[in-house]
Amino acid sequence: MTPPTPAPRVAIIVVAAGSGTRLGEPLPKAFVELDGRSILSRSLDPIFGLADPVQIVVVAPLSHLDRARDIVMLSAGSASDACSVVVGGDSRQASVASGLAALLPSIEIVLVHDAARALAPGALFERLIAEVDIAGRGVIPGLAVSDTIKRVDASSTVLETVDRSQLSAVQTPQAFPRSELVAAYEAADREFTDDAALIQHAGGSVAIVDGDPLAFKITTPWDLRRAHQLLAERSPSTRPPASAPAVRTGVGIDAHALDATQPLWLAGLFWPGEAGLAGHSDGDAVAHALCDALLSAAGLGDIGGIFGVDDPRLEGAHADVFVLETVRLLAVAGFAPSNVSVQLVGNRPRFAPRKREAEQRLSALVGCAVSVSATTTDSMGFTGRGEGVAAIATALIVEATRPAAGSGT
Ligand code: CTP
Ligand code: MG
Repeated sequence: MTPPTPAPRVAIIVVAAGSGTRLGEPLPKAFVELDGRSILSRSLDPIFGLADPVQIVVVAPLSHLDRARDIVMLSAGSASDACSVVVGGDSRQASVASGLAALLPSIEIVLVHDAARALAPGALFERLIAEVDIAGRGVIPGLAVSDTIKRVDASSTVLETVDRSQLSAVQTPQAFPRSELVAAYEAADREFTDDAALIQHAGGSVAIVDGDPLAFKITTPWDLRRAHQLLAERSPSTRPPASAPAVRTGVGIDAHALDATQPLWLAGLFWPGEAGLAGHSDGDAVAHALCDALLSAAGLGDIGGIFGVDDPRLEGAHADVFVLETVRLLAVAGFAPSNVSVQLVGNRPRFAPRKREAEQRLSALVGCAVSVSATTTDSMGFTGRGEGVAAIATALIVEATRPAAGSGT
């Protein structure tokens, strides 16, 4: 029997309820796409990668509550127990307050993080958690200011130059003892732009530690472009291999029967209002065919042999669990996916409207281009009679480049 997971003592409130006026996109900022996934989804990556269990509270706009739940569910996979999504308020401060109201009794330390700082690295979270434990008071990340700063008046006249050696441009996550943060919020009588200011207003003190340039806030279209560029530099699919690698192909097929009592998860997406698929996991035939194609290309067998059909951890598991583990196994075996193509065969759901979203989701999980198409079978066979769906996939993988022998770090 697996021992029960201890109740978390650290919570991370991710505020994502803003509208993103300065970004100027039609969607609220946290739901704007950043290299194939939403800003919110990217901001959760380092949090789900933390070594110790944490409670995660995502604060979302009322209009996008379900979308936020989908994103959190997809990111959390089997770790979804300690995650919740709550509705935000009219100001950032009101949104944090609504996150604080959702804390578990076991929480002693609270980190407040802007979803808009989507590239903040996991190491920054780890460091803040360690520092707040040592300091026993609020700890926030900050960067030295490199520009000369002027104080100006309403008519744009420069009044003075501010001594920048005394300035720090602060970021999130900001970490606080729970009791101090909750008390400061209860005492707050006006709006502040960050939580540290609120603590200070309540008479508390806060320490600054080194921030990280990657924790910059996506505020304007220029910031979004910068974030896109940083991710493109990171992506293995844009990095050409040093020498022509060996190429291998694989094929995978999967089919699942319809089960109207289940929610539908297909191609890594949740399809509200559609009949679901039967299976021990979520029955995502597209994701399973994709995994089979990758595994067969690498000669690693198939999904049934790798993921036990009775494994309780896989009950209801979504695409991310299978795809990320498949890609990891490929990497261990020395292969990297280069391209995957999947065709869904079935009458429902109507796939075209969400084709691009599905491709973006799966491409982000696999780490290479994934294309997904859909077809019907002219009312013939089990797919034509609407008894289930099938999917067929092909994958191209390459031998991952290894560092040259003797090369140092
Ligand atoms: N935020 C929030 N609730 C609000 C306002 C802001 O949860 N009512 C969150 C945002 O989603 C963001 C973070 O606080 O992750 C920092 O705020 P900011 O960058 O100002 O985002 P927006 O308020 O969305 O953008 P803008 O000010 O340009 O409208
Ligand atoms: Mg704002």
